[in-house]
Amino acid sequence: MANNEINPNEIQNHITTLKKIDIISFTTLDSTNTYAKNHSDEFSNSHPTLIIADQQTAGYGRFKRGFFSPKDTGIYLSLVLPINNIDDPSLLTLATGVAVVSALREMTNSQLINLKWVNDILIHDKKCGGILTESISDSHGKISKVIVGIGLNINTLEFPEELENIATSISDEIDLERNTIVSQIIKNFFKLDLTGNDFLSDYRTYCSTLGKTIQVVNGNQTIAGKAIEIADDGSLVLIDDKKNRHRINSGEVTKIYLN
Ligand code: BTN
Repeated sequence: MANNEINPNEIQNHITTLKKIDIISFTTLDSTNTYAKNHSDEFSNSHPTLIIADQQTAGYGRFKRGFFSPKDTGIYLSLVLPINNIDDPSLLTLATGVAVVSALREMTNSQLINLKWVNDILIHDKKCGGILTESISDSHGKISKVIVGIGLNINTLEFPEELENIATSISDEIDLERNTIVSQIIKNFFKLDLTGNDFLSDYRTYCSTLGKTIQVVNGNQTIAGKAIEIADDGSLVLIDDKKNRHRINSGEVTKIYLN
């Protein structure tokens, strides 16, 4: 597969009919989310800004874990959204998961692309990407913008040793250039109704964690049980072997192990 250039004009042409959006692209950034946070004052308060890079030297995910972001072979982007468009920012990670998986499934015809609650994108049960949502507050401490970061391994063939067994790329399933994939994800994102939580029904369909016996690590505590439900607030409901129900909020969870 050709490692074509990220081209903001091409992305804009694909999505412009749908919604006004500013697109800024870079050859290299430390992290698109960091750039978004540091430059948030410069972005529109009325429409979204898309920041995209060919490479990140300090990409990161939840709990500041590094996100491996080599040159040309992945998608590394941050969508900056003025908060007045969003009802509940905490559900944005899940909404974004729906946009990413629906886009990838449409383009690949593959049901093997799934979500691991809450923010991991899986293919063949291995991680091929992740989502990181962060908010920006104004000088009064009020959230003014939300940053939705998306990282996808498209054609990354070599991973650092510690990721070798858990990370993969989607190039086996998809043979499309990155601008098309980005455009489709953004289009699907804008099609979602973010004023409610209707997108959760698709999230439940795409979430392969449901029905599995898992372990959730929260600080020193580990809860084991079967994942039975995604609640309307996006939390994961587990039932343990004593039939006790546990409602897990994503903010509390540091790691999920699939048994
Ligand atoms: C995770 O796996 O916990 C989420 C990973 C999110 C990575 C993306 S890549 C684009 C954006 N910039 C970052 O530094 N992180 C997000």
